[in-house]
Amino acid sequence: MAIYLDNAATTRMRPEALAAFVAQAQAAGNPSSTHSAGQDARFAVESGRVEVALSLGADPAEVIFTGGGTESINIAIKGLYWAAVARDRTRNVIVAPEGEHHATLESLEWLEQAQGAEVVWVPVDRDARVSPEAVAAILAERAGEVAVVTLMLANNEVGTVQPVAEVAAIAREAGVPVHVDAVSAYGQLPIDFRRLGVSALSVSAHKIGGPVGVGALVVHRSVSISPLVHGGGQERRIHSGTVNTAGIAAFAAAAAAMHAELEAEAGRLRTLRDELIAGISAVVPQAIVTGDRGVDPSAPGRLPGNVHVVLPGCEGDSIVFLLDREGFLASNGSACTAGVAQPSHVLRAMGFSEQDSRSGLRITLGHDTSASDIHRLIDVLPGVYAAALDAGMAAREPQTF
Ligand SMILES: Cc1ncc(COP(=O)(O)O)c(C=O)c1O
Repeated sequence: MAIYLDNAATTRMRPEALAAFVAQAQAAGNPSSTHSAGQDARFAVESGRVEVALSLGADPAEVIFTGGGTESINIAIKGLYWAAVARDRTRNVIVAPEGEHHATLESLEWLEQAQGAEVVWVPVDRDARVSPEAVAAILAERAGEVAVVTLMLANNEVGTVQPVAEVAAIAREAGVPVHVDAVSAYGQLPIDFRRLGVSALSVSAHKIGGPVGVGALVVHRSVSISPLVHGGGQERRIHSGTVNTAGIAAFAAAAAAMHAELEAEAGRLRTLRDELIAGISAVVPQAIVTGDRGVDPSAPGRLPGNVHVVLPGCEGDSIVFLLDREGFLASNGSACTAGVAQPSHVLRAMGFSEQDSRSGLRITLGHDTSASDIHRLIDVLPGVYAAALDAGMAAREPQTF
């Protein structure tokens, strides 16, 4: 069986999540119905809410179930923006670092093009990290115009953890709400909604061994969000529509299992990650390890399961294809538009050249990754790199027909 090393894209479903999904999917009952089957479904949803809240350091009443990470992010950014503009029409500025996930990028671009927002992009450093001082400088000048600050807890491509609590403290002081996209950090880092001090936080079940198509938006009690979808008023009117009971039961089972083992598992993954980074650097000395290298112990660090390198001179796509042939499933980390590989916008924001930004390889470890998987990958990588270099050069040579 192929070795799965693309856990940042999605994880294999945990057995307890699958069992919970099947059990709940077999029961009839809409949680909004008053009969006993409806109330049984309501009980499953509310127990799930408690479990998910526990895994995020939030109150159950603050957890809004959604259809996944992208939806949570859209609801948060657009909903916070609309609520701010409704109170004061001049509050139309949104502050965000470069290198965010497409769910954020596209939402912001749409708000700019269709809704009259102005987005202020904050540059990131060579590790993809935003500086709280840069956010503070923007807010010092324009706090009265800012509707929302949004940023990731950790970069999904290069794994750099952002100083979210510091940014949130600065924004709170300026009276500006903060949304955090915690999708890639969930299941990798302990998350404490209260300690982070943010207004809203997005997560997704399929990154922690739960099903695709269910997620959560944690919304602080004091925060008002204008809804995207109107209907039956479920989920504090923020996410109307019949509640996904089976998905939530499975999400909750995954969250409970993840939360119970998080500390030990993060330690195990950190050891594997560091061994893999050292191994790649030894067998492919041309590889450039991107993101946080742990050089500054006071920096917030890198996701335990993330390894990302630039392999100069070859296309990330070729590496992924050649690794797949050897039985390893990894990612180039950047988006593909209609089958055409694009340079990674994250690497570009970090200062890599356009060519190097096409040469990323992301390897993301998960609960079923073993030390022998890592050793086998290190063994095949030099041969794969040599073959990808050949393919890369061939692709750039003029075609003769
Ligand atoms: C940082 C980040 N945000 C948002 C998303 C989107 O989440 P979903 O796939 O649940 O829509 C992802 C998924 O890759 C992600 O890594």
